Amino acid sequence: MRNVMSNEHIRRIERIESLKREKNAIILAHNYGRAEVRAVADAVGGSSRLTEAASETSADMIIVCGVDFMAEMAVVLNPDKKVISPVRNAVCPLARQLSRNDLDMAKKENPGAEVLLYMNSLADTIAMADCVCTAANALPIARTMGGDLPLLFGPDHNVSYYIRKGAKKEIITIPDSGFCPVHHKISLVDLIHAREMHPATQVVAHPECRPEVQDHTDYIGSTGGIVRFCKESDGTEFLVAADVGLSDMLRDEAPDKTFYPVSEATICARMKMPTLAKVEEALVTEKFQVTVPKEIADAARIPIGRMLELS
Ligand code: 13P
Ligand code: SF4
Repeated sequence: MRNVMSNEHIRRIERIESLKREKNAIILAHNYGRAEVRAVADAVGGSSRLTEAASETSADMIIVCGVDFMAEMAVVLNPDKKVISPVRNAVCPLARQLSRNDLDMAKKENPGAEVLLYMNSLADTIAMADCVCTAANALPIARTMGGDLPLLFGPDHNVSYYIRKGAKKEIITIPDSGFCPVHHKISLVDLIHAREMHPATQVVAHPECRPEVQDHTDYIGSTGGIVRFCKESDGTEFLVAADVGLSDMLRDEAPDKTFYPVSEATICARMKMPTLAKVEEALVTEKFQVTVPKEIADAARIPIGRMLELS
């Protein structure tokens, strides 16, 4: 299908670029976001890339086109800047699965154990951690932590499996159950069916997928890692166990290769909430500003800073 931009679309892009200059604003967009939003972003990538971009910017305003924990991360790293989410309810359900109370209890039950939290956590729990990690850097960071004691890790049990296996670490995962509802829905049966349809393909998966899916892949990594692997691989056909938007993005990034989502139902609707119209509106109205209490932000800056140092 030919991609013809309407005059309205072109006008909106020009307005966004002009507002960015006027307000000294940047746009950060996650790989799972809409293509129209990624096209106007100053940094596009996975959680790691967006954290680096947020830590390096000299802009006065940061528009975060992702989910809530990413906007909070930008606030924590930029306490004097205005951080805006173009939508009010871009909530990552995974990030709400570990409470301060659960983490506090786990720390008391495991004195001396270091706490590594998956970046998909809210700032109030990150403030209680020793370090955070993303899918991109979880293995090297976990290898440096814990000493002789098991590592406390949360909230995603599938990512915990990935770290236990890949970094050969003993891990206590908190809370008792925690997973991303989008990736966890991809079953081994889905993968077997997809392989029957496309037998010659390589399989790539995000570590938020179930252990049995991870165990049947050629590559497991972050959204950014998957893009890199597929572009650099000699393979020409890939089954992608991740948000369907990543397969669309891969088709743009590597047009000579073929990408099939393992399941067409794998869609993170929250990441798709920011539209081009919402981004324009956010730049005009400066709604919705994201804030984090100062004592939480000051404490959360330490584990996020440690991740940036280690990666
Ligand atoms: P990445 O850090 O791999 O971009 O993943 C973030 C995420 O929320 C995917 O579900
Ligand atoms: Fe959260 Fe899952 Fe969406 Fe990532 S894909 S933002 S972990 S709900």
